[in-house]
Amino acid sequence: MADVEALLPAAGSGERLGRGPKAFVRLAGRSLLAHAVAALAPSVDRILIAAPPGRLADVAAEAAAAAPTTPVQVVAGGTTRQASVLALLAHASADVVVVHDAARPFLDAASLTAVIAAARDAGAATLAMPIVDTLVRDGGDVIDRSGVWAVQTPQAFQRALLAAGHARARERGDVATDDAGLVRALGRPVALVPGGPHLLKVTTPADLAWAERLAPLLAPDRARS
Ligand code: C5P
Repeated sequence: MADVEALLPAAGSGERLGRGPKAFVRLAGRSLLAHAVAALAPSVDRILIAAPPGRLADVAAEAAAAAPTTPVQVVAGGTTRQASVLALLAHASADVVVVHDAARPFLDAASLTAVIAAARDAGAATLAMPIVDTLVRDGGDVIDRSGVWAVQTPQAFQRALLAAGHARARERGDVATDDAGLVRALGRPVALVPGGPHLLKVTTPADLAWAERLAPLLAPDRARS
């Protein structure tokens, strides 16, 4: 049985980016999906990927090219990120699973190893960054930023704990934008592992332009001009 499996939700439509399904959007000569797969492969035994409807074969081909020696399984994603992760969990079997957004192309080996190690200790862990900017609501009310973190991925879990979080959310109809939130809702702690700005998520055209400029620095082995 695999010791660590990566669950890669990559089924988003990329509406805010406006370039079709985000997994196939190209950055520095490769798809966002290929960047994420290549970053995960050296540290996991198997990668499970949620693909956009009708694109399973394309995702499998991209993944095989990015990580030729890593076993990969592609499943159909759902209509939300949470549904896509739930679909991936149904096919997972490892003790520890690490969930990573395909939209975050600059994952480094040290961050991945650190979050997996923290999950082995604590049951659940996420990379996150302390907020340094002042936070205000529409209208100007300031939100106290002390002790506030921006949560990133990857997030790693004992698989049984993440499955319990998803099962509870499904029963109650709860929705969360990340997996750590579902585990916290069980009353279980999630360790915060310092991530960094390199774990940025490509959401808007401006993010993609910024990522393109950063690629030679943050993914020099993967960037092709
Ligand atoms: O939309 P957002 O940027 O929050 O998506 C985060 C990740 O979740 C992306 O990698 C996206 O492909 C994935 N996702 C998914 N299924 C959906 C929506 C998003 O796998 N229905």
